[in-house]
This record gives sequence, C-alpha cells and structure tokens, in this order.
Amino acid sequence: MISFQNASKAFPDGTVGVDDLSLEVETGSLTVFVGPSGCGKTTSMRMVNKMVTPTSGRVLIDGRDIADLPTVPLRLGIGYVIQHAGLLPHRTVLDNVAQVLRLKGLSRREARARAHEAIERVQLRPELIDRYPSQLSGGQQQRVGVARALAADPPILLMDEPFSAVDPVVREELQLEILRIQREVQKTILFVTHDIDEALRLGDRIAVFAPGGEVQQYAAPETVLTQPANELVRSMVGRDRGFRALSFAGAESVPVHQLPGASDGTIHVDGAWAFTLDPDGRPGDWLGSDGAPLGLGTLIPPDGSLRTVLDAVLSSPAPYAICVDAAGRPSGIVQAEDAYRAVARRGSGEAP
Ligand SMILES: Nc1ncnc2c1ncn2[C@@H]1O[C@H](COP(=O)(O)OP(=O)(O)O)[C@@H](O)[C@H]1O
Ligand SMILES: [Mg+2]
Repeated sequence: MISFQNASKAFPDGTVGVDDLSLEVETGSLTVFVGPSGCGKTTSMRMVNKMVTPTSGRVLIDGRDIADLPTVPLRLGIGYVIQHAGLLPHRTVLDNVAQVLRLKGLSRREARARAHEAIERVQLRPELIDRYPSQLSGGQQQRVGVARALAADPPILLMDEPFSAVDPVVREELQLEILRIQREVQKTILFVTHDIDEALRLGDRIAVFAPGGEVQQYAAPETVLTQPANELVRSMVGRDRGFRALSFAGAESVPVHQLPGASDGTIHVDGAWAFTLDPDGRPGDWLGSDGAPLGLGTLIPPDGSLRTVLDAVLSSPAPYAICVDAAGRPSGIVQAEDAYRAVARRGSGEAP
C-alpha cells in the first residue's frame, strides 16, 4: 500500500504543486489521479519514487516512510512509464526492456530472456524486438515502455499520461491492454491522466485533482459519476454522466424473454417482427413487414451492462434487442420498453 500523509510540495518560486494530499493506494489496485493540467498529479506521483521530496508530510510504502529508504533500490522496485515512453534511442527494443534487469545485476543472457517474456506480455510483435525506438509507431513505443516497466516485476507501477500522445483508437487498445495485463500481474498501479473517460475506464478508484493540487474526491468510478462530491467534479464528469454510469449497472432488472424456435431460418418474435439466422445460427437481419432485411443493430452479449442493453435497443430496427450466448447465437430477447423503464428507474434513484 502507498500512503500519502498530508503530503505537500511548495516549489522554491512559491508555486504550490500539491496541497496536503492524504490518501491510500491499495496494494494490487489501479488508482487514477485525474484532473486538468497543472493540478499536481505528476508532482504527487513523483513523490513515490523520490523524484520529488515533499516539503511537508510524507509518503509511506507498506508502512515505511520512503524518506528512510535508499533511492536506488526503491526505484528498482517501481516501474515508471511516461508519455513519450522515454526509451533510449540508440538501443534496440530488446535492450531497452532488458536495461532495468541489467541494472538489477542479471547476466546479459538472463536479462534478455526476461525481456522477451515482458515483450510477450504486452503483445508487441516479436519481429520488432531488434528495431530502434524511432522505427516504431507511438503505440508500439508505449507498449515497449510498459514492457520495460514490467520486466523486473516490480510491485509498483507509476504511469504518467502513458497513452495521452497516441491517437484515440490506439489509446483505447492500450487501455484494454493495461486492464488485461493488470488482471494477470495484479500490481499496485498509480496512473495519471487528464482524461476523465480514461480514468473512469481504468480506475478501481479515482482521485479527482483540482488546480492548486487539492483532491476533490477519492472514490470508485461509479461513485464519482453518480455522486460527484461538488460542482467542480460534476462539471468534470460532464452532462452525460448518467448515461456513462449505466456501464457499471448490471442488466438484471431487464427481463429477458425466451425465443420461439426457428422456422425456415427465421425466428418470429411476435406477429409483426421476425429476424433471420445465418448458416451458423447467428442473427442475420430483422425483417420489415414486406420481408426486406433491415439490419440488426448491436446485440446483447452475456453479462452485458445496462448500457449495452440500452445501446442494443437504441440501435435495433425493431422494438426488441437480441441477447446472444458466447458463441453469438440467440439466447433470448429484450423488449425496448423494459430497457427504457430500467434506465428511467435508475435515473430517478430507485433501486434497480
Ligand atoms: N520544478 C518545478 N518548479 C516550479 N513549479 C513546478 C515545478 N514542477 C511543477 N511545478 C508546478 O506545480 C504545479 C503542478 O504541476 P504538475 O504536478 O506537473 O501538474 P500536472 O501533472 O497535474 O499537470 C504546476 O503549477 C506546475 O507549474
Ligand atoms: Mg503531469
């Protein structure tokens, strides 16, 4: 566990970077510091690896004040990923990843073997390992940065806007990737971003910073969305927060009805609406009253959230959305009306 205890940083010019920060980052959790530029996220994070010394207060790791810990071994136990990956330009991908392991005293061979494993973990294409950083895309460089941070298997990972400089599509890929990796490695991750959506997607808990370095709220994403602590947090999470909150809500409250059997490759849901099945038994098209194919919209996967259900009914040409099993075959049907009612009940604060 990382504990900030009344940690503050005033710079020599009088700027207060961080103001009386007290919070705990649980071991094995992914905690996000989010807030606009200049509100002290990076400064707070750098207190953890002693790149910044607090002017008052302290930071503890597993109960030990880091002021009492020697810097080099401390940093070897902390992976650090920054925006532009910070790779050494004249070293290959493999050597960049192996670097920390060499510093830890592993032989060249051992270091390279472990580096290979780390590269595999971030699913970087193996043929890239002999390239130099400038020969990689931004997204690939960030993967190398993550591999390098993970290579020595440190218990703590600090990530400072690691995905902010890559395009939105690659960013989303990398976000999913970090969630997958975290499920496997269960590190204590401190992640800094200015992007509230990224924070909501990744964080087990989110600390919302405001200019002046003060934390406005420290809570689970759903709480930040549904019960913002004040106007500032409310404005940050934005007007569509109710809709986003649905991503966290289960869809149990929406009844799923059984489907009748297929006849001639078509399932007749009611007198007016039917959809076809493709040769593999997966939904093909909704049919108009004249039999014309109308498309399908999105389908509801097993364990879909309430938001998935709402997306499905909104995108369906029929007043229904189709639930599918893991193989993509129809497993039930939801009425649009039921989905709208479930969403409205949540909006009014009733229990789902
Ligand atoms: N070395 C420094 N000297 C003076 N002011 C600094 C220094 N580092 C950061 N600051 C100031 O401290 C505040 C917080 O900075 P920072 O932690 O980098 O914010 P963030 O990461 O949230 O964008 C800003 O006002 C910044 O200008
Ligand atoms: Mg920063």
